[in-house]
Amino acid sequence: MQVQVVEVGPRDGLQNEKEMIPTEGKIRLIERLVEAGLQRVEASSFVNPRWIPQLADAAEVCRALPQLPGVRYSALVPNLKGLERARECGLTEVAVFMSASETHNLKNINKTIAETFPVLRETTREALALGMRVRGYVSTVFGCPYEGEVSLDSSRRVTEELVAMGVYEVSIGDTIGVATPRQVHEVFAALVKDVTTERLAGHFHDTRGTGLANVAAALEEGIRTFDSSIGGLGGCPYAPGAAGNISTEDLVYLLHGMGYQTGIDLVKLTEAGAYMQELLGRPLPSKVLQAALAQ
Ligand code: HMG
Ligand code: MG
Repeated sequence: MQVQVVEVGPRDGLQNEKEMIPTEGKIRLIERLVEAGLQRVEASSFVNPRWIPQLADAAEVCRALPQLPGVRYSALVPNLKGLERARECGLTEVAVFMSASETHNLKNINKTIAETFPVLRETTREALALGMRVRGYVSTVFGCPYEGEVSLDSSRRVTEELVAMGVYEVSIGDTIGVATPRQVHEVFAALVKDVTTERLAGHFHDTRGTGLANVAAALEEGIRTFDSSIGGLGGCPYAPGAAGNISTEDLVYLLHGMGYQTGIDLVKLTEAGAYMQELLGRPLPSKVLQAALAQ
């Protein structure tokens, strides 16, 4: 059985890095990721560069993406201005994003949830009219750094709104890595009442070491698309204390061991992880990467 892995390292992974990574290094990293067999890569983010300085070079990165058959690139866009910037450099897919909790939404994109819907609706409508694909993200589904518990009703409502706008898939985010498998079962069992499993993805951060256990729980609920970041790099700058995404190497190791196919070559993937470590000048959290490098 096939599982899709969405590599978000070049965006979610890098957006929290204080030291500026050279544009050339970001492009080399993406080349290595697609050589390893990744077919979905979130390459960067067209947000206000004052908010996310590390990704101010989104246009340069996106113009240099290696075009290979079957490989799809995407980038975050918060509004029409972001969409316009993404389109100008030839992207054919974008991702809109918002939170299930008010305070995180406000801190992250400077709007209430109610104010965000019309912005994402017009952005999605325009992108679809241009023939682009649009993905959606819901953050803080499993907990908010400012409000704590987040109601399932709010997550369901935001997810449904995004689907109604026309996104082809909604990525369900554990922004601060607080989820445990029981909650993952509860959340996905509720969401699949409104949205089919094919249109949902799991986006787990590994702050508390529960990321892969959460993937296993989501697989049991029928979810077959997961976001991850090379080496386990990353975090949301507007979610204090948030650690990286689950690592792509660890996710692929787990999936292959469980009998799922991903089309990804784990040896080449760890080479991409090793390259990322070199670029950053420090070890990354991925356990599979560290085990490969120790051999
Ligand atoms: P704002 O200040 O309310 O925007 O920010 P505004 O519309 O009032 O415009 C203010 C200025 O921003 C103007 O410039 C605009 O042109 C500019 P000025 O006239 O002052 O020179 N601007 C832009 N510039 C470039 N590109 C744009 C753009 N839009 C406006 N697209 C805004 C609102 C959404 C722009 C801001 O809050 C922002 O950029 N936020 C991004 C925060 C972010 O990137 N967070 C991390 C990503 S989300 C995440 O990590 C979670 C996720 O991984 C899932 C999970 O883990 O849960 C996806
Ligand atoms: Mg994230």
